[in-house]
Amino acid sequence: MSNDPLLQPFQLKHLTLRNRIIVTAHEPAYPEDGMPKARYRAYHVERAKGGVAMTMTAGSAAVSKDSPPVFNNLLVYKDEVVPWMRELTDAVHEHGAAVMIQLTHLGRRTRWDKEFWLPVVSPSHHREAAHRAFPKKMEDWDIERIIKDYADAAERMKAAGMDGIELQAYGHLMDQFWSPLTNELDGPYGGSLDNRLRFAFDVLREVRKRVGADFIVGVRYTGDEMLEGGLTKADGLEISRRLKDSGMVDFLNVIRGHIDTDAGLTDVIPIQGMANSPHLDFAGEIRKATNFPTFHAAKIPDVATARHAIASGKLDMVGMTRAHLADPHLVRKIAEKREEDIRPCVGANYCLDRIYQGGAAYCIHNAATGRELSMPHSVTKADARKKIVIVGAGPGGLEAARVAGERGHEVVVFEAAGDPGGQIRLTAQSERRKEMISIVDWRTAQCEKRGVVFRFNTWADVETVRAESPDVVIIATGGYPHTEVLSSGNEFVVSSWDIISGDVRPGTNVLVYDDAGDHAGLQAAEILAKARAKVEIMTPDRSFAPEVMAMNLTPYMRSLQKLDVTFTVTYRLEAVEKSGNELIAHVGSDYGGVAKQRRFDQVVINHGTIPLDELYFELKPSSTNLGEMSHEQLVAGIPQSVVRNPEGEFQLFRIGDAVAARNTHAAIYDALRLLKDV
Ligand SMILES: Cc1cc2nc3c(=O)[nH]c(=O)nc-3n(C[C@H](O)[C@H](O)[C@H](O)COP(=O)(O)O)c2cc1C
Ligand code: SF4
Repeated sequence: MSNDPLLQPFQLKHLTLRNRIIVTAHEPAYPEDGMPKARYRAYHVERAKGGVAMTMTAGSAAVSKDSPPVFNNLLVYKDEVVPWMRELTDAVHEHGAAVMIQLTHLGRRTRWDKEFWLPVVSPSHHREAAHRAFPKKMEDWDIERIIKDYADAAERMKAAGMDGIELQAYGHLMDQFWSPLTNELDGPYGGSLDNRLRFAFDVLREVRKRVGADFIVGVRYTGDEMLEGGLTKADGLEISRRLKDSGMVDFLNVIRGHIDTDAGLTDVIPIQGMANSPHLDFAGEIRKATNFPTFHAAKIPDVATARHAIASGKLDMVGMTRAHLADPHLVRKIAEKREEDIRPCVGANYCLDRIYQGGAAYCIHNAATGRELSMPHSVTKADARKKIVIVGAGPGGLEAARVAGERGHEVVVFEAAGDPGGQIRLTAQSERRKEMISIVDWRTAQCEKRGVVFRFNTWADVETVRAESPDVVIIATGGYPHTEVLSSGNEFVVSSWDIISGDVRPGTNVLVYDDAGDHAGLQAAEILAKARAKVEIMTPDRSFAPEVMAMNLTPYMRSLQKLDVTFTVTYRLEAVEKSGNELIAHVGSDYGGVAKQRRFDQVVINHGTIPLDELYFELKPSSTNLGEMSHEQLVAGIPQSVVRNPEGEFQLFRIGDAVAARNTHAAIYDALRLLKDV
């Protein structure tokens, strides 16, 4: 048996967890009608197959009707959840993992204009900044009702055969009772710490009555709100002791911080550019003070840190949650001593930000996550070996090469630059986004293992491609910055990428006109402001940088606000003219009736890219499919069979930004779903 601390079993009451790595609660927004159906099940089963010890399903599964999901969560107040959960539990157990669920009432952390239009409730009228609802201050009958709801939900989960439950108490109703900042009740549930904790212990007591002493019940809670007037570390330690001493709790799952703002949430779940494992020592202190099973997760993306967390005795179980979104087979690869094959989580937080933007969680560079029913995490070998030529070694081209290599094909990649990575290589030059380079490095290493041949510094033309006698050609040439958006004066502007790459020196008084709303605009603004330019970001949209999304915006704002960058929304840059050393920006608005002139010495445009598609169009006549991709076959997951030119020499496809400006995930998904069937 291995002596790796991470691979030692852990005894939690009667339950033997097969190793020390868990997936903590995270709602990927995959439920259908509030139920964990096939997609949800497949997602957790994949992690179980990959060797994780325990997977915590849901995340904020709703125990009451007045706790409506903000995006899409499991509705555990419905009886019909039991058979669905039973199916999931059985399927996960088949692969040797334990499976639990996080239950909660969101309190004020939701909205009232959801399914039943019930008022949002909390122990005070204080609104939460992130979700904006003004809550009703709870009455005695609200408290009684919700305690019963928790117990009903717990009973359903036991009936579904689950290994346990976890009650959520950070930023949700339970700790809204705990925190002096959000509890203004008098009497039994407000005032002293004893009173503020009463709700949680009443819930635990009621839950225990229903599930008995043997069922596993944990609490995931904040041990220090890190907010003036909020719960302190001393409070957290006291609460930890009381949870243990109550005899009603089997594990502590420790969080540090508060989540009532986007910035607070980002400190609890740090993203790329922020320190790794920032709250690990804190969780270790709680474990030391309580000597009780302690779980914790917060940006422990790499195996070495996880191993240290266990070996040093700071934790009993280490959460590697986003790490499992990126690679569900992480534990198996540790056990097989193939740590270098683990697809790294780069902290891009596309997964989390996206659920709030109304969609399901997807990993920026694992397109199979959340698509387990249609996309493979490991592709199978092809029946016949083909010659595949790929032009472009950006994320799409590299993913195509990786997948084709894994299928056993002979693969050649042409890249005009000296290194792989395309736009990601530029992006990763920013200190805060340097983790992005792992998207490139991991793929390059995987390709090399599979014998993919790279020809860097090579501008591929029609002859270069034809000389390879390929069966399939993939054009992944990306795009070039699109700046021709003005009615006049396009020749006076530069692109955000010119600034990011360092090709153009920063001006001193700069307008960043951003109507793409993605990272490049903000990244350019930050580079400019750090070079001491006075910077204004202007957009015709209602909010700036909508594609960057909430948590990713946090580090930008922390930097840009300090650098005094200003933000102007709802104005459109129409034209630029030169006047001596200055540029006059003509500014209008889609709302009409505005015509202003502003003076700058540099205008930077961020407006996505235009496809670099020349080679594709030149190759088209030589291809059998004349470049056509059958969407029917692509979506159905079957090989492409379009033949429009029987005389053609090869199949030709283009992917990623070479088709249209999109994002990294789109390019990687294009590549995976096409190449897995080639
Ligand atoms: C898509 C997503 C949804 C999440 N939802 C919840 C949730 O509902 N409840 C919860 O306690 N934590 C939630 N989390 C936080 C995770 O449990 C975990 O604390 C966080 O991702 C930090 O751990 P990691 O760095 O290992 O990913 C969510 C995380 C992700 C990525
Ligand atoms: S999107 Fe980013 S943070 Fe989320 S799992 Fe993937 S790599 Fe990790």
